[in-house]
Amino acid sequence: MLISPTKDNLNKIVILNPKGGCGKSTLATNLAVCYAKRGPAPAIMDFDPQGSTMAWLERRPVGLPTIHGIAAFKKTMQATRSWQLRIPSETRNVIIDSPAGLNHDDLREITRDATTILVPVMPSSMDIHAASRCVADLLLVARVDRNERKLAVVANRTRRNTKSFGKLMRFLDSLGIPIIAVLRDSQNFVHAAEQGIGLHEMQPSRVGPDLQQLDRIASWLDGWAERRKASINVTSIRRQAFSKVSFLRKPQAESS
Ligand SMILES: Nc1ncnc2c1ncn2[C@@H]1O[C@H](COP(=O)(O)OP(=O)(O)OP(=O)(O)O)[C@@H](O)[C@H]1O
Ligand SMILES: [Mg+2]
Repeated sequence: MLISPTKDNLNKIVILNPKGGCGKSTLATNLAVCYAKRGPAPAIMDFDPQGSTMAWLERRPVGLPTIHGIAAFKKTMQATRSWQLRIPSETRNVIIDSPAGLNHDDLREITRDATTILVPVMPSSMDIHAASRCVADLLLVARVDRNERKLAVVANRTRRNTKSFGKLMRFLDSLGIPIIAVLRDSQNFVHAAEQGIGLHEMQPSRVGPDLQQLDRIASWLDGWAERRKASINVTSIRRQAFSKVSFLRKPQAESS
């Protein structure tokens, strides 16, 4: 059965960074494979008119674990948007691949009911500059609340110990946004993309360190429901504290 993607127990993982070529589709396809191998089948929604993830899905060999694909970039007049974006009812994880060059309206729209947001960043000075704007836009334009801890960065194509990598770490640290994984610059990603597979479907001896990092991302993503619950609790404690303070202040205001 297909349903519209609004149910409560669904992790809606948005992968975005308006900077082109930073690894959004690579991350989307590899995460989809992680979930597919574990089951139930995840869905990938491709919002990029280039259709890279849909093309990857078409290259996917028959017999590998199922990934449900939705070409969200194709708008049709024949069906409502929610009908077009419906997913199988057993799906627990939907991965949204976004296009480069998102404007502010698109950013608000695509992140509106995201439960997690991953920003892949490459550690060159230009990419770091673009990533800082992207994170600022997420916080100020899309109004992502940092207390909800739904936002994280994945450093991609990284050589550790470079100056720019240190700069990226300090910038994110100052915002309290975690870098949950560091992916190597590796031809494994290129070869997997060409074959319509993920690194979890390659020979483990070839991809060991990369798998470790992908598994770190998946295990951080798995904590989405607890993080959401914790942030709802914190918000309600804050509200209660605020209403107590307002209550205590009221008589003073009246007596003056
Ligand atoms: N860690 C990596 N190591 C080596 N190559 C990589 C890595 N990550 C991505 N690539 C390669 O870099 C290129 C761009 O990656 P990808 O298409 O995932 O970026 P993107 O952010 O989706 O781009 P766009 O903004 O155009 O949609 C691809 O050829 C991909 O195979
Ligand atoms: Mg892409």
